[in-house]
Amino acid sequence: MTLILGIESSCDDTAIAVVNTDRTILSNRVFSQSDLHADFGGIVPEIAARAHAERLDIVAEAALTEAGVALGDIDLVAVTSGPGLIGGVLSGVMFAKGMAAGADIPLIGVNHLAGHALTPRLTDGLEFPYLMLLVSGGHCQFLAVTGPDEFTRMGGTIDDAPGEAFDKTARLLGLSQPGGPLVQAEAESGDPKRFAFPRPLMDRPGFDMSFSGLKTALRRARDKIVEEKGGITRQDRADLCASFQQAVADVLRKKTARALTAFAAEHGATTIAVAGGVAANTAVRAGLQQAARDAGFTFTAPPLKLCTDNGAMIAWAGWERYRLGQSDDMTLAARPRWPL
Ligand code: KG4
Ligand code: ZN
Repeated sequence: MTLILGIESSCDDTAIAVVNTDRTILSNRVFSQSDLHADFGGIVPEIAARAHAERLDIVAEAALTEAGVALGDIDLVAVTSGPGLIGGVLSGVMFAKGMAAGADIPLIGVNHLAGHALTPRLTDGLEFPYLMLLVSGGHCQFLAVTGPDEFTRMGGTIDDAPGEAFDKTARLLGLSQPGGPLVQAEAESGDPKRFAFPRPLMDRPGFDMSFSGLKTALRRARDKIVEEKGGITRQDRADLCASFQQAVADVLRKKTARALTAFAAEHGATTIAVAGGVAANTAVRAGLQQAARDAGFTFTAPPLKLCTDNGAMIAWAGWERYRLGQSDDMTLAARPRWPL
């Protein structure tokens, strides 16, 4: 076994990669749909499903060409079979079945979250066990990763994911999407202490978090400024962004510190890895690195392109399962809900 084709279409990226089992990524194509959804203020499932169906073969062709291989050279097809938007997952699974049947090679379904959680093994060769913090537009959870198929959810958000909160903040302040990077850019010239936004659950025991109250507080603060002054200035906006970002970073830092202590006590290991778009945020990342340093942990963050949705992580997670002796057949089903 050497070459794996990884297919990801569970959200708004059509992504396909060719990965060698020696951990070399031969190609990693991501076709983002964000332009298609931009006018709707969020992902429209029907548009996403159609776009995946239309683009999967184009992206596959590009991934194979870039890798310099033909379908006949591929040894295993791995595909996200959940969780995610049903239309996209179905498109990917059907496409993968066609590829596997056409080339007469094995097929394996991968849990999207397992893909994220195993990425540091692809990028850094991390050994089990390690703690994974997944912080993206759709997810926020602490996972104790003890084997290719062994994930224990220690806690996570009970409502919005942080990326979702960043995106809603951007929308409330008239910035475009995806909002995270724009909120971060605004925050650079803002005062993180001007608004005392709530940090729900932060000082409670456990590892659960909540981010939905934050956007309500932000909206109130914005409305109050508008009421008093008739509009918000650039500085107001920067201060709102900075204060919001600081609240998110504080919650993640504190909860991570607590999760590190519990993880080390239970597993006797001191490695944390992060994944997801929000891990790219400089304030969030600084907080996480601080928490890791304080607890004597090694901090690993895969390159951004592999932190966000991609096919390489699916290829790798498929290989990790396959070499345990697992595989799927043509009955592989899409599972829109599939907790790890
Ligand atoms: O992991 P990802 O690409 O997609 C999934 O949600 O699976 O994460 C995208 C999210 C978006 O909500 C985006 O606004 C956020 O990550 N994001 C950021 C930054 N870069 C991306 N949030 C805060 N700061 C950033 N620099
Ligand atoms: Zn994802």
